[in-house]
Amino acid sequence: MTLLFVNAEQVVTCAGPARARRGAEMADAGVLAGVAVATDGERIAAIGDAQALARAYPGAREVDCTGCVLTPGLVDSHTHAVFGRPRYDEHELRAAGVGYMEIARRGGGIHASVRDLRARAEAELFDLSAARVRRLAAFGTTTVEIKSGYGLSTEEELKSLRVVDRLASSLPLRIVPTWLGAHEVPIDHRERESGRAEYLDLLTGEMLRAVAESGLARFADIFCEPGVFSVEESRAVLSAARAAGLGIKLHADELEYSGGAELAAELGAVSVDHLGAISESGIKALAASETVATLLPGTMLFLGRTRQAPARALIEAGAAVALATDFNPGSSPTVNFPLVLTLGVSQLRMSASEVIVAATVNGAAALGLAAETGQINAGFSADLALFEGEDFRELPYWFGDRRCRGSWARGETCHPYEPGLG
Ligand code: NIG
Ligand code: FE
Repeated sequence: MTLLFVNAEQVVTCAGPARARRGAEMADAGVLAGVAVATDGERIAAIGDAQALARAYPGAREVDCTGCVLTPGLVDSHTHAVFGRPRYDEHELRAAGVGYMEIARRGGGIHASVRDLRARAEAELFDLSAARVRRLAAFGTTTVEIKSGYGLSTEEELKSLRVVDRLASSLPLRIVPTWLGAHEVPIDHRERESGRAEYLDLLTGEMLRAVAESGLARFADIFCEPGVFSVEESRAVLSAARAAGLGIKLHADELEYSGGAELAAELGAVSVDHLGAISESGIKALAASETVATLLPGTMLFLGRTRQAPARALIEAGAAVALATDFNPGSSPTVNFPLVLTLGVSQLRMSASEVIVAATVNGAAALGLAAETGQINAGFSADLALFEGEDFRELPYWFGDRRCRGSWARGETCHPYEPGLG
């Protein structure tokens, strides 16, 4: 199908090189006015004068973008969208003063989601997850990375990855699968003296082999945090994963400094995520590397933490910063990516251009997809999102509102076009 997006108040192209934007480059989101965008099947065909494009694509179906801003489809490069029960009980516990790590020590947190996921049938998990991924699309997301990590056994991790695979083949969004068997040391292993070493053997041995052979994961990730996995353990798991053909990502320096940012740079990880407690040396290491620093301010907000990742210091040092939702049942139960952009401006002191670049081209780079999506540019995937407003700065401004009026991935509708409310 050929689509012709006309009458947009602005088109935010993010057009430029097919790589992450770093430092000062993030200040330019490539905003154009008075242009139309034509798609041809799965690809963006052209940007330009509406009448000229209408002549060049006579059979095109018009999408009237009056009162709206057209952007690249948002790229949410960090979610844990395959889970069962929501964990609202822990939300209240934290308000009463029990910390995130303390809840985990008591057998809740990730462990609670593991017990829950193991008890559910694959088909049921698929239905729950599919409904949630559709909600992500309703807020403008067209590419979403989804991690396993609530299975923590070979069988249950494969079950989670099969759910992700089925989501990828049955929903129009682009879905990128990540194996996060190293999300936690499972409770039964924690209770035995030798359990931790056995779980690390499982991660670098049988489980990794099964995941790699299944072809169900593109990346491996690990929770590198004091009390979870150390830098040395992370190096071992990620090196094994890379040798097995997977790209690598890390959760690091989320609540406390771990040294994970330095490790990410050393290993050439595609991204390192969270970074609330990153060190000066971590900032320098990332600025000198190709690794994308993915910040998740919704998580800090929801956990009630006051310290946010030092986005300005990262950008000023010349690092590439991405933003993502971290959508998960424990620390960030939000499908609202534009709300995360609001936090990017209000909490991380980024500009509107920077947060949009962070959620499009840099999110794509954090998934190794910078040549495929994240820009409105001829030849890129026809991944688009339409937001009510006359200026792109309204995207992070109307916080908490759902202004998305449609989203498309590979030219297919992810969230149906809704005319502006006026
Ligand atoms: O990114 N920190 C580790 N993983 C998730 C939270 C998972 C959970 O609490 O269920 C995160 O914050
Ligand atoms: Fe996460």
